[in-house]
Amino acid sequence: MIQMSGISKAFNGNVVLENVQFELAKGEIHALMGENGAGKSTMMKILSGIYTKDAGEIMVDGETVQFKSPKDAEKLGIVVIHQELNMLPDLTVAQNLFLGKELTYGKTGILKTRQMEKEAIKLLSKLGLTINPRTRTGDLSVGKQQIIEIAKAIASDAKYIVMDEPTAALTDREIETLFKTVNELKAKGISFVYISHRMEEIFAICDRITILRDGQYVGVRNIPETNFDEIVAMMVGRELGERFPERNCKIGETKLEVRNLTVNGLFQDISFKLKKGEVLGVAGLMGSGRTEVAQTIFGYRKLSNGEIFIDGKKINVKSPIDAMKHGIGFVTEDRKTEGLVLDFSIKDNISLANLEKCSSSGIMKKEHENSMVAKYIKDLKIRTSGPEQSAKSLSGGNQQKVVIAKWLGTEPEILILDEPTRGVDIGAKKEIYHIINQLAESGVAILMISSELPEVIGMADRVIVMQEGKLTGEVNKEHMTQEVIMQYATGGEQVV
Ligand SMILES: Nc1ncnc2c1ncn2[C@@H]1O[C@H](COP(=O)(O)OP(=O)(O)OP(=O)(O)O)[C@@H](O)[C@H]1O
Ligand SMILES: [Mg+2]
Repeated sequence: MIQMSGISKAFNGNVVLENVQFELAKGEIHALMGENGAGKSTMMKILSGIYTKDAGEIMVDGETVQFKSPKDAEKLGIVVIHQELNMLPDLTVAQNLFLGKELTYGKTGILKTRQMEKEAIKLLSKLGLTINPRTRTGDLSVGKQQIIEIAKAIASDAKYIVMDEPTAALTDREIETLFKTVNELKAKGISFVYISHRMEEIFAICDRITILRDGQYVGVRNIPETNFDEIVAMMVGRELGERFPERNCKIGETKLEVRNLTVNGLFQDISFKLKKGEVLGVAGLMGSGRTEVAQTIFGYRKLSNGEIFIDGKKINVKSPIDAMKHGIGFVTEDRKTEGLVLDFSIKDNISLANLEKCSSSGIMKKEHENSMVAKYIKDLKIRTSGPEQSAKSLSGGNQQKVVIAKWLGTEPEILILDEPTRGVDIGAKKEIYHIINQLAESGVAILMISSELPEVIGMADRVIVMQEGKLTGEVNKEHMTQEVIMQYATGGEQVV
């Protein structure tokens, strides 16, 4: 149905796609995989008319097409659900769903608000979501907003739906519903392009998989005829070896202790200790309060009750600045709104958390700044045309690396990582794990929130588990299995 061939694209002379091909059959789910910055999103932005190609051909239903804008692609039924959400936060759910396609009374322009709200309820319930259509969209969780975006694509009678990392912020249950819907639509002949770094998902739902590396086409495979290792080798171009590097751990004295931490309405009575050189995992389902606990330690939320100690001394953190003064760093899970200033360059984003170090008497020490930024670009293998590139134009995984670089620069003694590898490819994940290990070995105390259980088990020395705002368990390295952690996370429900 869709055939893209010989596609090339450069940004300011920087080639990001070169002679790439891709095809999509009727009723298939076709995965697009590759490392961060390989060119997946760019390829799909070309297919949907957002970017124009420098060379190559796109054929839809046997006819060559030229897209000048996303509208042209939409007319042929091509819709993209982007990696970055596109909902307008101040509009209601129903307004977002019908944006640009509002139902009106004839040509009067008067809106059929009631009807749109009713349709919205119907549409969302198909995706297992009961939401008041008058809710302000920005008040919903990222996961729910993602589902609304998917509902919007489905409602537009799309024939080809591109999903760019749709599940990064979804809970397991939401993912299940999403997959059910995708399979139903597939049975009706709708085709999907599915971009994800989660191999398990790709093998669960896709029919074929195309692999890109460094802006080049590597190959295509039928899912039943390939396996995890072959795909990784095609993506990375080398043997990856162990997923979780070894750590030589010398766990020291207690660095951070929290006692009876409570924020009314969010979590109660959280107590734990974190030692120097230790990686303490925090597991739990989405919405269990893990992020809120981290934000509170970082001075971003006001305590209702409880105490925080560093090196045995009680501290009072009223703001993130206070927390930073106490040597705490915080890599947030939400890089787009909390982690980065998207319009700033990589350089400015990194130095933002390090202004004191990069300046004297209020004047920037350019050389110091430049060498610090260059070091992190190199150490973290940030794929970029240079330190002046805007954070906005980086690929998702490379944005994540900039957030991490920013906090590494502060040389924290306590580092809180909230979903540190979200949207990061398998090779870069290993680099991040390596950095976490190095920090721990040098004595940094690390609190790592993660929804990926293999990551928790592979990296943490100890894990605490939260459920509905309470601490429900603590597991040592020897006893760490997915089953045990899930049991604490779900309150002993049947583990599936
Ligand atoms: N508007 C732009 N201006 C400049 N460079 C860009 C722009 N858009 C993308 N790039 C560059 O193109 C390359 C490919 O990016 P792309 O977003 O397609 O990667 P990706 O495969 O989707 O990666 P990820 O898995 O991290 O999302 C990156 O090096 C990125 O910095
Ligand atoms: Mg991308």
